[in-house]
Amino acid sequence: MRVLTIIPTYNERESLPLTLNRLRNSVPEVDVLVVDDNSPDGTGEWAEARAQEDDQVFVLHRKEKNGLGGAYIAGFGWGLARGYDVLVEMDADGSHQPEQLPRLLDAIDHADLVIGSRRVPGGKMVNWPAHRKLISMAGSLYPRLMLGLKLSDVTAGYRAYRADTLREIDLSAVQSKGYGFQVDMTFRTARLGKRIVEVPITFVEREFGESKMSGNIITEAVTNVTKWGLQARWETLRSSLGLR
Ligand code: GDD
Ligand code: MN
Repeated sequence: MRVLTIIPTYNERESLPLTLNRLRNSVPEVDVLVVDDNSPDGTGEWAEARAQEDDQVFVLHRKEKNGLGGAYIAGFGWGLARGYDVLVEMDADGSHQPEQLPRLLDAIDHADLVIGSRRVPGGKMVNWPAHRKLISMAGSLYPRLMLGLKLSDVTAGYRAYRADTLREIDLSAVQSKGYGFQVDMTFRTARLGKRIVEVPITFVEREFGESKMSGNIITEAVTNVTKWGLQARWETLRSSLGLR
C-alpha cells in the first residue's frame, strides 16, 4: 500500500519542520507532499530545501493563497497521477498528531474514507478555547442534520482517502475552500455509497503561528451546507411527486 500524506501550508515556517520530523520518524514508509501557497514567511523555500535532502518529501508550489480546499485538490491530483493507493490529509500546525496516523491507516483496510474524529469515544481536543469548541460543535451538528450524515465529526481535517474514492469524485467541481471543503468531500463520498469510518484522535491546538480560518470561511460553509441540504430535499420531494 503506497501512502501519500498531503500537508497544505500557509505561513507555517515554525510548525512544519516539527510536524515533518515527527511524521518521517513515526511512519517512515509514508511519502509526504507539502502544498505551499507562496507563504510570505518562507515555508515554501524551507520545504524545498528539505525535499532536496529526503527523497520521500515533495513540494508543490502554488502562486497565491487560494484556500485549503484548493491546495488539497491540487495535492490529490499530484498523488493520483503518481499511483498512490491512499491519500492522507494532515495540518502542518501539529493539531493532527503524526503518531496517530497508523490508526487511520489500519482502518482504511475496511473503509473508503477514514476520518480522524474528535467526537467519538476516545477522541479529544487539547488546548481548544471555548469559543472554538462552540463553533466546532455547531459546525458539526448543522451539516449532520442538514445533510443527513450519520457521522460525529464532518468538518474534521485529519483523514485518509482510498485513491479509488477520490477517482470517483469529480474533483474539478469542488469549489469549497475552508471548513466547508471537508463537509463537501464527506457529503460527496457518502452519496457515492462509500464506507466512511471514524477513528478517535486527539486534536491539539497549534502552538505557533495562527489559524487561517476566518469569518468568510464560516459563512462559506454555512451557506453551502444550507444550499446542498435544500437541494437534496427538493430532489427527494420531486421524485416522490413523480416530477422530473
Ligand atoms: N496551501 C494552503 N493554502 N494551506 C492553507 C491555506 C491556504 O489557503 N489555509 C490554511 N492552510 C493550511 C494551514 O497552513 C494548516 O497547515 C492547515 O491548512 C489548517 O489550517 P488552520 O488555519 O490551522 O486550520 P484550523 O486549525 O482552523 O482548522 C482545522 O480544523 C478544522 C475543523 O475544526 C483544519 O483541520 C480544518 O480542515 C478543519 O475543518
Ligand atoms: Mn490549525
